[in-house]
Amino acid sequence: MVIILKLGGSIITDKSKPMKIRYNVIERIAKEVREFINKNEDKLVIIHGGGSIGHYLVWKLRVKEEGWPPLKYSIIAHEMLKLSSIIANAFIKEGIPSIVIPPHAIFSLGENLVIKYGAQTINIIKGYLDRNIIPILYGDAVIYEKGNTKFEILSGDDIAWLLASVLGARKLLFATSVDGVYDKHPKEKDAKLIKELNLRSIKFNEKTVSSKNNGKYYDVTGGMMNKLKAGMKYINSLKDTEILIFNGLIEGNIYKALIDKPIRYTQVKIKFE
Ligand code: IPE
Repeated sequence: MVIILKLGGSIITDKSKPMKIRYNVIERIAKEVREFINKNEDKLVIIHGGGSIGHYLVWKLRVKEEGWPPLKYSIIAHEMLKLSSIIANAFIKEGIPSIVIPPHAIFSLGENLVIKYGAQTINIIKGYLDRNIIPILYGDAVIYEKGNTKFEILSGDDIAWLLASVLGARKLLFATSVDGVYDKHPKEKDAKLIKELNLRSIKFNEKTVSSKNNGKYYDVTGGMMNKLKAGMKYINSLKDTEILIFNGLIEGNIYKALIDKPIRYTQVKIKFE
């Protein structure tokens, strides 16, 4: 069975510092993934975020304001590919067969930001899984076919939900820098972790889906609520998928989440009330 693991940009990079990659965290995650694949039959797909590389560059280069100049597009796509190569490199060093599949080469965005892809894309991802190679994908800048700009950001969260749905994943794991979804900003003293939430009953509005992720001015894909909102499209095909949001900065948590050991998390259920 397939497990989709999304590594948030806030764990593999330091979002408070531009262009700061957390090599030690990436190496630790590679070790946890190795421990898992050595002992388990599940097929893993890794997706990672942009953190202080992708989000920072989109903000810093002002691509949205400037209508995505081609050279700036190339810089962002290339820097994301480099970040992904660093992750693949750490995996290969641990003896984990893995391959980067750049999203800008297989996905585009159509009308209403719907993800477009061909059947062959899925065949190739499945082909790697069948051959015991972990595909690594990531949030990327991709061609926007029907928009008023030529390019747009496709978040890693969107890719994670999509692949969980088309690959019929057993589990969809979001490793973030917090323990899960809170009833208030997690930095507030009395904020409580929501242990279980029903995707069908969340009401999304302008306030809950903000582009200012936890006060960080340069998150261009919008934080925890957008993570959940991205899943709405796949609600009917994910009824059998276990969906968890948990803290990937705590050592051992990724391994434990992969092998179903108890940790603190928010479980996202998809059920009719
Ligand atoms: C963003 O991907 C990619 C770019 C900004 C190029 P994500 O939206 O998945 O990144 P994180 O996990 O929030 O950092």
